[in-house]
Formats: sequence, C-alpha cells, structure tokens
Amino acid sequence: MQSPEIRREAGKRKTFAIISHPDAGKTTLTEKLLLYGGAIQLAGAVKAKKDRSHAVSDWMEMERERGISIVSSVLQFPYGGKLMNLVDTPGHADFSEDTYRAIMATDAAVMLLDCAKGVEAQTKKLFRVCKFRKMLIFTFVNKMDRPGRDPFDLIGEVEDVLGIGVYPMTWPVLEAGSGRFRGVYHRLDKRVHLFEQVAHGGAERAPERVFAIDDPVLTTLLDDPTRKQLLDELELLDAAGDSLDDAKLAKGETTPMFFGSALTNFGLPQFLDAFVEMMPLPAPRHTDKGDVPPDDSRFTAFVFKIQANMDRAHRDRMAFLRVCSGKYERGMKLRHVRLDREIRLTNPTQFLAQERSVVDDGFAGDIIGVFDPGIFLIGDTLTDGAMLRYDPLPQFPPEYFARVAMIDPMKRKQLKKGLEQLAQEGSIQLFRPPEGREGESIVGAVGELQFEVVRHRLQAEYNVDCRMERLSYQLARWCEGEIPPLAKLESLLFGYGATDVHGNPVVLFKGPWQLETCAKSFPNTKFVELGVRGPSLDDAR
Ligand code: G4P
Repeated sequence: MQSPEIRREAGKRKTFAIISHPDAGKTTLTEKLLLYGGAIQLAGAVKAKKDRSHAVSDWMEMERERGISIVSSVLQFPYGGKLMNLVDTPGHADFSEDTYRAIMATDAAVMLLDCAKGVEAQTKKLFRVCKFRKMLIFTFVNKMDRPGRDPFDLIGEVEDVLGIGVYPMTWPVLEAGSGRFRGVYHRLDKRVHLFEQVAHGGAERAPERVFAIDDPVLTTLLDDPTRKQLLDELELLDAAGDSLDDAKLAKGETTPMFFGSALTNFGLPQFLDAFVEMMPLPAPRHTDKGDVPPDDSRFTAFVFKIQANMDRAHRDRMAFLRVCSGKYERGMKLRHVRLDREIRLTNPTQFLAQERSVVDDGFAGDIIGVFDPGIFLIGDTLTDGAMLRYDPLPQFPPEYFARVAMIDPMKRKQLKKGLEQLAQEGSIQLFRPPEGREGESIVGAVGELQFEVVRHRLQAEYNVDCRMERLSYQLARWCEGEIPPLAKLESLLFGYGATDVHGNPVVLFKGPWQLETCAKSFPNTKFVELGVRGPSLDDAR
C-alpha cells in the first residue's frame, strides 16, 4: 500500500553530487545554489567554512575540533519548489573511497569544468563512478568570464576522454576578437541572453536582456563579426552535434552542457533552472528481493559512508544513510538486516543548509547521519522490518599501495584484526599475497592520506605500531574469466597477483603498460576496474 504523503515527499527530492577537480569552482557553485534557493542570505558563508578546513583532512580537523565536522558532508536546501540534497565529494587531501561512495548515494551529478583546463584528473576519476551508475550528468563549464579554451575543443575533450555524447543546452556568446563573454544563446528557448556585469557574490540573478536571434536591437549590441561567429557556431552545432535524446540523457550517455560563470552569475540561472527541472527524482534501487521504488511504503535505507573520529577520547563514529523508500520517523524501530536485529537510531541528524538538526522525518533521497556505536558497515541495509538487502557497493580501484610492516611481531594478531576491520569499514582495501607468502599485508587506498589515517588508527584503537612502506603499484584490476597464475605474475614482471578481502583475484600493476602487456599475455582474462563483487562484506567476516 502506498501513502500519498510518501509519494508526494519522494516526488520532491533531488539528490546529487558535484564532481570536479579542486579549484574548478565547486564551493562557489554550492554557495550560489544556497543563495538562489534562499537557504543562506550572505555570500561567503560556504567559503569561510571551506577555508577553515583547507588542505587538511576532515579527519585531522575532527581531531582538532573534538567534534565531528560533517556539515559539509551533505546539505539539504529548498530550490524552486524542490528539496535538494547535495552530497559532498571531498577532494584535496580528503579524497578517499568515501568520495566515490558519495556518488553511489545520489541520483544525478553536476560535472564542473574550468573552461581553461577542461577535464582534469579528479573529475575523470569521479566521472567513472557516475558512468558505472549510468546516471544523468550535467556539465557546467565554469569561469567563462576569463580566457578559456575554445568551446568546441572542450566538447571534443569530454567526448574523447570521457566517452560520452555532449548536447550544449547553452552556447557562449564570445566577442569576436577579444573573446569577452557577453552572454549565452539558449538552444531550447532559442534566445540570446546578454549579461550585464554586477558586483561579485550577489544573491540576485545577473541582470540580463533577452533577444530573439534576429532581433534588430541585437545588431546594435553585438558587432557584426560577433553575430556572424555566433550564427556560424550555432549552425555547426545543429549540423554536427548530438540531438537531445531523453533516453541517452537518462542513462548518462549524453551530458547536457552549459556555459557560464559561477562567480559573476553569468549563465548560471539558465543552468540552474534546467538542472532543477531535468534532474531525476529518486529512482527505484535494486535489492536481493527485486527493485524497491522510492514511494514504496516500507522504509529502507543503506549505509554509504562511515566517518570515525580520530580522537582517542571520542571514539564515536557517524554512519550516513541514504533513504531509498518509505518514511523515517524519529524514534522508530528499525531492522538492521545484516545483524538481523532491531535497533533505534541514535541522534539521527539532517543537514539543513548551514545547520544540523535532529531528523523528524526522512524520505527517499534524503541523507541521515547517525551515531554509530560500531554496528554499521558500508553497504548495510536498514528497513522497518523487511528482510531485504541493497546491492553491495562497488569496489573502487585504489591507486596507492603500501606494505604494512609490523614493528612488534607479538602483535601479529591485533594487526590482522585491525586491518580487517578497517578494510570492512571501507577506509582501505586489504590485499593478501598469493599462496606461499602468507603474513604479508598489502593495503591499497584511493587517497594517499588514508595510509596515515590507518597507521594512526591501528595505533590508537588496536595498540599496534606499524610502518607503511610505499609500493610503486598504481593500478588495481580485478580478474574475470580465466584466473592468471597469481603467484607467478611478479616474476614475469607483470604485476603483483593477490586476493581481496572477499577472496577475489586481483592484480596490482605499476602502470598502464604493464596492464596492457599482461592483458595481451592472458587474453582469456578480463582485467576490470570497477564492479560490484560478492560475497558481501558480512560473509567475509
Ligand atoms: P573549489 O571549491 O572547486 O576548489 O573552487 P572554489 O569555488 O573555491 O573556486 C576556486 C577559485 O576560483 C576561487 O578563487 C574562486 O573565486 C574562483 N572562481 C570560481 N568560480 C569562478 C568564476 O566563474 N570565474 C572566475 N573568474 N573565478 C571563479 P580564489 O582566488 O582561490 O578565491 P577567492 O579569493 O576568490 O575567494
């Protein structure tokens, strides 16, 4: 049975992440979303928060502040009659598997590109996860108020590097000669929007004048070479570009692209209006008992992030749940499916714009943070009684590897236990060497800082001192099909053959060349980068 309230509320939520490389303008864009949505009144509030924690991990910050600084993990704010949930994808030193997992909790993404830099490394990494999920990705080409690359060149790069079609929804009007950003042509309303410069940081939309392309007034505002250039470019787009195909958009095969400047607001309203309108509502999610639609009356959620506190005196952890269906009500009893146990959530918290507040209710698309007394693992399902489980989250390929060297051999057992638990928690991935080399532990991480975090936690929580000896591997690929002789790979100079915590065969490579040569030598093996691989974590316990 479906309740009208659940259907109505699930129909309001839009949950997304912004994927970008540091400095592309994520903080500025987030701030504009909050300003335009009316959630904050003053520009600079988000920025101030960011500056406080720049360059150090949230972890270290937590230790210092003796609290959990999670305000930026998720923001909920109203926008255009919808409730937006923006899940943060921390970069810089905070880049970790959590960043990837954040994308698993969303329904769409905004890919933010700097017009002068195009597709950068971190964007590429995060994009792979969006593509894996086949979800709608909006592209916003930012900083158009500054000199940048040719827009056609940027389209080509997105298509070639990311393997996705591009449909420019807006097109920049650049002054012929100077390249000054004068406005955008909206390809759906078929109008030119010319901007007027306003002071940086205003909450109001940039003043603009809107014209049909053949409006005689436009000829007085744009010189002939500029108009000719614009008409030529639009003709080229119509002739050579992709069409706007809803099915391709929904599967993430085509990205709608917008041009603008988050700082000066130019081109931003055109993007935001289309984005809020086109962004999908929460979709049905797959469980071992079939798909669960967001308006299903049963409450279901899964854990996608666990944040532990580094401080010895504050060993508490926060678990973040993505609500997938039904209604969460404060104080309700929930079933922890893996433990087959009834629980009540402690301090369930939601994050409204700049503040945290206790959750009164939550619907599909919402993110709830709860105190975790050590009972949650990444991927755990919570329901109001139903015995179903959401699909395990994928394993993400680590790019940094280290051998864990024990300092006190008497602590072998504690070390093993500590590493296994940290791996289950999702901080690192643990690889076991092939047979005959037992005792060696290799850990892999997505961000370099994770090794420091792990060493610190092994010491604080398991009383084990160890050294992290960095290894020169750079890629992890899981083997599907025929399994190559893992123990021999290293001597053949291909890579390091190992098994992951679930017992799946995996090879660590020093670089793309080794991967390629190995793949040629074992043509019946598929070396895959990203995937959902069983058994689930609890089976591995
Ligand atoms: P991030 O969160 O992705 O790391 O980027 P952030 O928004 O902090 O932006 C990085 C820098 O780029 C900032 O400059 C910001 O003002 C600038 N920026 C963002 N959007 C635009 C834009 O549309 N046009 C131009 N010209 N600049 C933009 P900063 O000098 O590092 O900081 P601040 O002194 O401006 O605060």
